[in-house]
Amino acid sequence: MSKQPAKPATPADNSSNAGFTDRDTLRAAARQHVEDGAITPSYSADRQTVIKLLNDALATEYVCVLRYYRHYFMARGMLAESVKAEFLEHAQQEQEHAHKIAERIVQLGGEPDLNPDTLTARSHAEYKEGGSLRDMVKENLIAERIAIDSYREMINYIGDRDTTTKRILESILAQEEEHADEFSDLLDGWIGD
Ligand SMILES: [Fe+2]
Ligand SMILES: [Fe+2]
Repeated sequence: MSKQPAKPATPADNSSNAGFTDRDTLRAAARQHVEDGAITPSYSADRQTVIKLLNDALATEYVCVLRYYRHYFMARGMLAESVKAEFLEHAQQEQEHAHKIAERIVQLGGEPDLNPDTLTARSHAEYKEGGSLRDMVKENLIAERIAIDSYREMINYIGDRDTTTKRILESILAQEEEHADEFSDLLDGWIGD
């Protein structure tokens, strides 16, 4: 007499959905507070705090844009041409960071604060004009290191409560680390003033 192979075990209760919200509840929740746009009831971060943090980061990015442009226009000396190209590229990339942050602030129902009167007071990094080309590179390295620390802190605070904001900040952080690394390499091999 041949033995039947054992049937694979199936869950006895198909109503179990492993913690996922059922379709009717999802649909009902989406219909409530439609004016909140992309922000649904499952958003669990403190929205006002996230908007405030993003506005501080936005101020930082704009101060960095202005500092990089200042350095781009003022760079003089033997290495100026290649370093100027870095300053210009960074200015443009910081501008892109600002753009992404401002867009996210609006998605979260906030308003990007671009008031120039309070920009430097709200920025983490400083607007340092620098004297020599080497000074400029050093000031930019310091500003990038400040940005790296503040982005890392924001990412740790937000955690998994707002994964979209977290992902945006992580991509910006990666680019700030590249910026810092480029200046660190430049300073390592620096000859002269
Ligand atoms: Fe940036
Ligand atoms: Fe940067």
